[in-house]
This record gives sequence, C-alpha cells and structure tokens, in this order.
Amino acid sequence: MLSNNDPIGVFDSGIGGLSVANAIFSLLPREGMHYFADTGRVPYGPRSRQEILQFSRQITQFLLDQGCKMIVVACNTATAAALEDLRSEWPDVPFVGMEPAVKPAANATKSGKVGVMAPLSTIQSERYAQLMNRFAAGVEVIENPCVGLVPLIEAGQLNTPETHHLLEDILHPMLRQQVDTLVIGCTHYPFVLPIIRKIVGDSCQIIDPAPAVARQVARRLEQHQLQASPLNQPSFHFHASGAVPDLSVFTTIPFQVENIFTLD
Ligand code: DGL
Repeated sequence: MLSNNDPIGVFDSGIGGLSVANAIFSLLPREGMHYFADTGRVPYGPRSRQEILQFSRQITQFLLDQGCKMIVVACNTATAAALEDLRSEWPDVPFVGMEPAVKPAANATKSGKVGVMAPLSTIQSERYAQLMNRFAAGVEVIENPCVGLVPLIEAGQLNTPETHHLLEDILHPMLRQQVDTLVIGCTHYPFVLPIIRKIVGDSCQIIDPAPAVARQVARRLEQHQLQASPLNQPSFHFHASGAVPDLSVFTTIPFQVENIFTLD
C-alpha cells in the first residue's frame, strides 16, 4: 500500500536529474526522496532504446523496493525510451516523465527558428518525432546532440575552458541561423546554464523544463491524494551505480549517500 509520507523516487543516467530534484525540493519540501544516479552507465545518449528501457526497468524496480510512492523519470532520454512501457508494466504507480519543450518553444519563437539541445537517442526517438509533428509545424528546428557535454558535467566541469569551448561550438551555429528560443532537452544542461546564457545573450529565450516537471509532480500527488503531510520529516537518499560526484556542486538537498552498487 502506498502512503502519503512515502518518498518519491527520482532517476536519471547520472546527476542531471538533480536539476529536477532541486525543483521538486523547492516546490515540495515535505516530500522525501530516493534519487538514483546510473553513474556506472552514463551517458545514455549514445545507447539503444532497448538498453535504456532495460536500465529504466531495473531502476524503477529498485526505487519501488525502497518504498517509493511515485517515480519521476528525470531524464528526457529514459522518458523517450521507456516511459510508456513502465506505465503499462506498473499500472498502479504514478509516473512523471519529461520531454524536450518543443511546444512552448514553437509558441514563443519570433524568428521561427528554435534550437534544441538534447542527447542523440532523444532526438532519434519516436516520441520526439511525434512531438515535432504535432507542435513544430512551420517552425525550423535546429538540433544538436551535444556530444561530450554530459561527461563534462558529470565530472563537475561546470565552468572550465573546455566546457565553454564545447558550448560555443554547439551554440554559435544555432545563433548564426537566427535561433531566438533554445530548448534545454537534457536534465544535465541546466547546470551549465550561466555559460549558455553568456553565449546566447539576453535576447534568446531559454526553456528549462524542471520547474514545470515539479509542478506536474505536485498535480499528480494531488490527483492520487498522495501528498506528504505538512508535519512529515522527510529523508533524502542518494544511490549510484558508479562514481558519486561531489553533490554540493549540484544540490543543497541534504542527501544521505547510500552504498554504491551495480545493477545487472
Ligand atoms: N540527463 C539525461 C536526459 O535528460 C540523459 C543524458 C545522457 O545520459 O545522455 O536526457
């Protein structure tokens, strides 16, 4: 039986989903959390759908075993590869996923040119193709799979010359093509938002979906009457399948780091 003060399970290929966890924590501070970072197998971007689906199943099972009342797939890539299957395999569990914010971007652009930064497997997914068909008609979308960016962020290189150069290589061609709206299609990228902002300037609108995902979590908890009580004393647990980075670089959530282990 799920109960109100049970924690929320959040997962990502690595620490990227902490950008979503941070938004959930600031909106819903009474909710406890188990965060799973698949740092032993990051990045997911170059992997096949089948592989990402298998990893997502394992992690979901692990989080449910920890007593989680809801699963937040804080990863665009895992959402694209696995969300539908997870929902049909665990029909009683509320899931929240996320996808590149193509719709708000298509509505916001004035130049008619939108940039999408997202991992390759997201850009190549069926789900993304459907998003484009539904919402991006009449808009030119310039995509970049940002190869190499996730590993730099995982390594805590949030403000190094290497990260600057890579982001310039990604963003300058978009700017040359008059992109005025940029979609952050990976939960890792908000951690380099200050550099992105510096490169694209103030006239370009940047869409980070994390706050909207946190609001969706709040709505789903309400629908299922699963909100934590105002007196709940939440606890926060961080699990990883590989290296644990210095969490203070990414979050102020008071996580207890649990044992590191491998899923197979
Ligand atoms: N943070 C992930 C996302 O939102 C995945 C990044 C990766 O592992 O390639 O898509």
